[in-house]
Amino acid sequence: MEEGSHRRPHAIMIPIPLQGHVIPTVHLAMKLASKGFTITFINTQFIHHNITKSKPNTTSQELNVDDEDIFAGARKSGLDIRYRTVGDGFPLAFDRLLNLDAYLEGTLHVFQAHVDELVGDIVREADNPPVSCLIADTFHTWPLAIANKYELLHVSFWTEPALVFSLYYHLDLLIRNGHFASRDNREDTIDYIPGVEAIEPKDLSSYLQETDVPKVMHRFLFKAFKGVKKADYVLINTVKELETPTISALQEKQPVYAIGPVHVLEKGLTTGIEVATSLKSESDCSQWLDNKPRGSVLYISFGSFSLASKHDVDEIAQGLLLSGVSFVWVLRPDTVSYVETYALPVGFEEEIKGRGLIVPWCRQIEVISHPAVGGFLTHCGWNSVLESMWCGVPMLCLPLLTDQPSNRKLVVDDWKVGLNLCDRKPLNRAEVKAKINSLMSGNSAEKLRKEMNKIRQMVENAVGGDGESEKSLCEFVSQVKAKIN
Ligand code: UDX
Repeated sequence: MEEGSHRRPHAIMIPIPLQGHVIPTVHLAMKLASKGFTITFINTQFIHHNITKSKPNTTSQELNVDDEDIFAGARKSGLDIRYRTVGDGFPLAFDRLLNLDAYLEGTLHVFQAHVDELVGDIVREADNPPVSCLIADTFHTWPLAIANKYELLHVSFWTEPALVFSLYYHLDLLIRNGHFASRDNREDTIDYIPGVEAIEPKDLSSYLQETDVPKVMHRFLFKAFKGVKKADYVLINTVKELETPTISALQEKQPVYAIGPVHVLEKGLTTGIEVATSLKSESDCSQWLDNKPRGSVLYISFGSFSLASKHDVDEIAQGLLLSGVSFVWVLRPDTVSYVETYALPVGFEEEIKGRGLIVPWCRQIEVISHPAVGGFLTHCGWNSVLESMWCGVPMLCLPLLTDQPSNRKLVVDDWKVGLNLCDRKPLNRAEVKAKINSLMSGNSAEKLRKEMNKIRQMVENAVGGDGESEKSLCEFVSQVKAKIN
């Protein structure tokens, strides 16, 4: 430590290598750097390759992977964010989603070894300031071991709601009460998770309720949540006012800070700073949206990797046609299968000319903050939920995987800012049409907008100067500074 002065905190940050985790972790890095942290951000080479390849005007042939630094712009603006990449043990061309079990199995050992080596190098090299913390996604299985080995503060970053964190945190209770992996066997309400008044088994994360979850996924969860119980601090990308009892119950166990939504960066400090986070090229929808009336467009996206059934996607397409509503649809080629490209019903594209825009990927936050957008048909990925609430856009919910069923419960049942796309499976086009129309116009839409305005205001207040999220983040920063000085 420099004599007579305070040491700056220096954190190594490592997201889970998936789009929905990289985005909030980059945003957290920017926030912490703007509060005086030095950050060394580590992406896997696979993520890095996809981000840099998807930047406009870059082809994969032109790309020199090692020359690209996604935080160069942030550094020019005075934020001390350094950037490294690490191998995950698989070649770039290996299809990680298609071979998820093998990928997870491999990363359990190889990835940890690579991260260990790189963290060791960074710790040895960095003396200005020396590394003091490891901030890793809660889903990683190795942060506790690595933080202990290099004597770093262990900070766990949870990118989903506190509700889902609590459910995984109390896995032992779910197992003891027979609600773990009990889909179709149990319908009784779960009322024994501290801070969670009641949740139905169907609203548990898919990894907790399904019976056919790959064993390796459960090994990941068990290990990750054993480790997080020993973390020095837990940061959650949520808003305290939205999940007060759950967060309060967690805070009785260890230091937990609700600091979301992290995508809202401090105005002034970060204005104009471009940090690329998208793994795919983004289509520009702004001109198309500029010509549409206020609040008239439905935005549709199922996030970056969840699969929907072909039947459901076909019925959504037909329901859209029947609804007469204008829409922007992010239809990933791999929406229904990682192997085969999804094809829309014959004649669909002809029929929606002028009324619908279909793109493979876009800059979502820009689209949903456009005044023309009045509703969001979403899979309830947590980033999408937070972004929708920040933009004041009510949601139509079709949860598919992982935390999404629990997120749906929060959006529809607790906060009343969304509707279920279907009340009973399977989807049918008449119900899809009716639900789209209820979301976009009439009394039900009015009611949703009223509730959404309250939530939007709450979220905006939370990240403002005196807001709970801002105060929690500042409190976390002072705690770390006090610990390392
Ligand atoms: C995954 C899980 O599914 C999600 O539930 C979890 O909370 C995080 O990890 P994903 O399915 O990709 O994420 O959904 P989501 O959380 O909504 O994240 C997607 C991100 O990609 C959002 O930040 C969204 O703005 C962005 N996005 C999505 C785009 O920028 N463009 C698009 O076209 C679609």
